[in-house]
Amino acid sequence: MRDEPVVLGIETSCDETGVGIVRGHTMLANAIASSVEQHARFGGVVPEVASRAHLEAMTPTVERALERAGLRLADIDAIAVTAGPGLSGALLVGVAAAKAYSLGLGVPLYGVNHLAAHVAVDQLEHGPLPKPCIAMLVSGGHSSLLLVPDVARDVISLGSTVDDAAGEAFDKVARVLGLPFPGGPHIDRVARDGSGAAIAFPRGKYDDGTLDFSFSGLKTAVARWVEAREKAGESIHVPDVAASFQEAVVDVLTRKALRACAEYGVGDLLIGGGVAANSRLRAMAQERCEAAGVRLRVPSPGLCTDNGAMVAALGSDLVAAGVEPSPLDIPADSSLPVTTVHV
Ligand code: KG4
Ligand code: ZN
Repeated sequence: MRDEPVVLGIETSCDETGVGIVRGHTMLANAIASSVEQHARFGGVVPEVASRAHLEAMTPTVERALERAGLRLADIDAIAVTAGPGLSGALLVGVAAAKAYSLGLGVPLYGVNHLAAHVAVDQLEHGPLPKPCIAMLVSGGHSSLLLVPDVARDVISLGSTVDDAAGEAFDKVARVLGLPFPGGPHIDRVARDGSGAAIAFPRGKYDDGTLDFSFSGLKTAVARWVEAREKAGESIHVPDVAASFQEAVVDVLTRKALRACAEYGVGDLLIGGGVAANSRLRAMAQERCEAAGVRLRVPSPGLCTDNGAMVAALGSDLVAAGVEPSPLDIPADSSLPVTTVHV
């Protein structure tokens, strides 16, 4: 539809400078600059380095997005930006840039929640979200189960990790196994040559009756297992360790997600966040959803990891829902609660 607003979304909560452009739920561009290589040797994202990289990448990434969309700045009807949660300094760069574009272009600004954006992005590929749906967000910074009656207005937290996020556990275990950062994609790849049943690693909070997660015990168990074999001078079959670890994470994630669907009587499950790119998670979720009669939605891997189109998608929902734009003095909130969809 031509009269749907064109929304430019800016994402800088971690190490990706993402700029996406949508018209309604049609994605027109999704440009990304990543500073991941600058963090690799530290084995984790260095906030100061990420902030500087955002500052350098911001304008060029906006220009690239406009070029891909075949648009000019004057064609943009609204600006959306991740206002939190995330790294403070990194968020500040995106929020400051978004304010400048909003002010300069005379268009409304929408400060949005990063987690809700991970949910909203699925609409760019699979159409409007069923109301309600259950969303499981699994990334380097968060692992949450959400009940989503309306992604533009109402997101309810059902459970989250009590310690490490799922992606964090992938990254830490990868490090133990000598795989590069970020470890998730490497574990996914290496695990294809191993057996998920080779080692029985613990499944934290598996049957505790809650919708919370815990991955720190699993991470420690893998480290101890590897350490014990190394001390004994035994060789380690890395693919088996990777596959068994991955199996434990994926088993707990899918079990809890389906438990949430059953408890709340919801027939649609959405999985998002970087870990949703994991091939074993996608396969097991598909199997278990089919068995439970639950419809599964997972964005394609490139839209699961942090990007600007997800922010633009949520911005577009806010515009469509007639939500008040954000004032120009909004802060960047590193611990913005998941229930606050926009600020
Ligand atoms: O959503 P995201 O890009 O950034 C955050 O908001 O954290 O997620 C990044 C996380 C990293 O921990 C990375 O290792 C993990 O997602 N990840 C994966 C895969 N691809 C990315 N984890 C497991 N399997 C994958 N294929
Ligand atoms: Zn994310």
